Amino acid sequence: MSENTVTEVVQGVYRLSANVDNILFEGIWPIPKGVAMNSYIVKGDKVAIIDGVCEWDGVPETLFAQLEQMQVKVEDIDYVILNHLEPDHTGWLNAFKKIRSDFTIVTSKKGAAVAEAFYGITENIHTVSSGDEIDLGQGRVLQFYEIPNVHWPETIATYDTRSKTLFPCDAFGSFGSVSSSAPYDDQLTQDEIDFFEDEALRYYANIVGAFSLPTRKAIEKLGPLDIQIIAPGHGIVWRKDPAKIVNDYIRYVSYSKGPAKPHVTVIWGSMYGMTEQGVQPVVEGLESAGVTVHVHRIPESNISYILKDVWQSTGVVLGMPTYEYKMFPPMVAALDEIGKKKALNRKAFRFGSYGWSGGAQKELDEITERLKMNWDFIEPVEFKGAPSAAELELIRTRGRELGEAVVQAVNAASGS
Ligand code: FEO
Repeated sequence: MSENTVTEVVQGVYRLSANVDNILFEGIWPIPKGVAMNSYIVKGDKVAIIDGVCEWDGVPETLFAQLEQMQVKVEDIDYVILNHLEPDHTGWLNAFKKIRSDFTIVTSKKGAAVAEAFYGITENIHTVSSGDEIDLGQGRVLQFYEIPNVHWPETIATYDTRSKTLFPCDAFGSFGSVSSSAPYDDQLTQDEIDFFEDEALRYYANIVGAFSLPTRKAIEKLGPLDIQIIAPGHGIVWRKDPAKIVNDYIRYVSYSKGPAKPHVTVIWGSMYGMTEQGVQPVVEGLESAGVTVHVHRIPESNISYILKDVWQSTGVVLGMPTYEYKMFPPMVAALDEIGKKKALNRKAFRFGSYGWSGGAQKELDEITERLKMNWDFIEPVEFKGAPSAAELELIRTRGRELGEAVVQAVNAASGS
């Protein structure tokens, strides 16, 4: 966790934040480049804090120090607006409760139930529905919009009608630590914007992807608002070009149902190097069709990065041996997670080695059908023991066929 200073987003709206990098996000996802936990103070005659921070390792203390920096006393906060109750945004309430017990929480009806379940809070909860408002004075009216399942069922977004700032919490967020000296898109170089785009894609595939349909509905619901600034719970604040992150998210939503980019992700595992021999030929075949190829060996490669690459890929190659008459277990785990995140309708190809019998196909069918993945597989290449030269050549050919199918699908979707 690193220190951060308060900055002014726009007159009367302030960004408070702490970067965290020494944990697995949600206990699962690696964040070697960190993640920013953002809160916002909005000032009229009354003061609201929108979103909060986790309770890890000194983070609430950072928030309190930042309030002190801007000379806001905890006692001065009239409204604690909880857009989303997941503890990465609400864990600090435990520390806040020790300082002050009589604050007013603003959240959805479903949020009120979660506030009790996580924090035992049942008093002073003001519940809001879509279109409800709170007037902070000085012409600053906050409006609320329910955006369920982005990322939990209780989620709302808050909109400041004066500055036209949207506070959507998890939506439009990204991984990646944010420098307090440059937390705004108008302060960043193109390389830095590209970094956050990359981290937004991984964040989306890991955290939001399974909720792509609700995310599409949320974007449609918020569409009529005049949004000049997007201030999410994670990542940078978009002041110069808020449409950029909205359009990125529209693309990420569409990747769930495919086609995505003209990319193919090769996921492979090997016990004794037989299946491994097919990796280079399949990559060469794919590249000869002009697609971008991402390669992940399992179980070595972390599922967080596999999900990110599958999300942006129109095609997937699964290379694995049969193991105890079934699929190689790390592939079962990877495919199960990919299916649960709803990476649907991919073009796919499978190859791999078996010893005494096959059996991978049956389990592969079971997973893809159970998770309604609707992947379109071309004919697999299976070989007993080590692959022959002819089988390796066939894998190369299949790679090219898959690459061509991917290019065709992407072109058809873009109308070219
Ligand atoms: Fe950033 Fe779903 O919490």
